[in-house]
Amino acid sequence: MIAIAIDGPAGAGKSTIARAVAKELGYIYVDTGALYRTVGLKFSREGVDTSLKCDIEKILKETNVDIAFVGDEQHVFLNGEDVSDKIRTPEASMMASAVSAVPVVRAFLLDLQRKMARENNVIMDGRDIGTVILPNAQVKIFLTASPEERARRRFVELTEKGTVTTFEEVLSDMKVRDYNDSHREIAPLKPAEDSKVVDTTGLTLEESKAAILDVVKNKVGA
Ligand code: DC
Repeated sequence: MIAIAIDGPAGAGKSTIARAVAKELGYIYVDTGALYRTVGLKFSREGVDTSLKCDIEKILKETNVDIAFVGDEQHVFLNGEDVSDKIRTPEASMMASAVSAVPVVRAFLLDLQRKMARENNVIMDGRDIGTVILPNAQVKIFLTASPEERARRRFVELTEKGTVTTFEEVLSDMKVRDYNDSHREIAPLKPAEDSKVVDTTGLTLEESKAAILDVVKNKVGA
């Protein structure tokens, strides 16, 4: 099996680009952020906020997260319910960032991620795929872009989906999440030593995709 790990901050274009590259190569695209979002949604539904003052282990015992593919589209399930759309709100983003800093939550989601890569050729995106989840991935890419560019892309995406927000709010949320994700003690966001850093600031989707395919071709000759 071949694994391509793509890590990087929110809004770097990981999911859009990874999806396009997966299609081109015939691989499965696994969006691991959706798993943390699903756990975050469960905690929200339990009435817990981002301070996570609760019995985390007890809630996790009542949490079942699963992935299934509808065509080549990943869907995530919380205790059997398809929550793929419900996890895409700004609140869900903040809850995902909060729960993802908790070691037992990361341990809870580890096996599912590794299983996906054992059974399929995958392009998997997240924050710690190349460093922790798939340290032996044949290709590791750290995808990034300036905070303003990332906020602009996320703002367009949210507005298109009908979410009412402002650019300033998205930028400020993004900076909080960047800080949380890269300063937490466990699996902080950072490039794997053997990763190739690709900066997509000012690049179109096509150019970003070409840059990634270039790295992949150099590594595995795909
Ligand atoms: O990529 P995303 O925005 O859907 O991720 C949601 C949150 O989950 C983000 O704040 C960081 C966290 N995350 C993580 O810690 N590890 C991953 N592999 C993927 C996401």
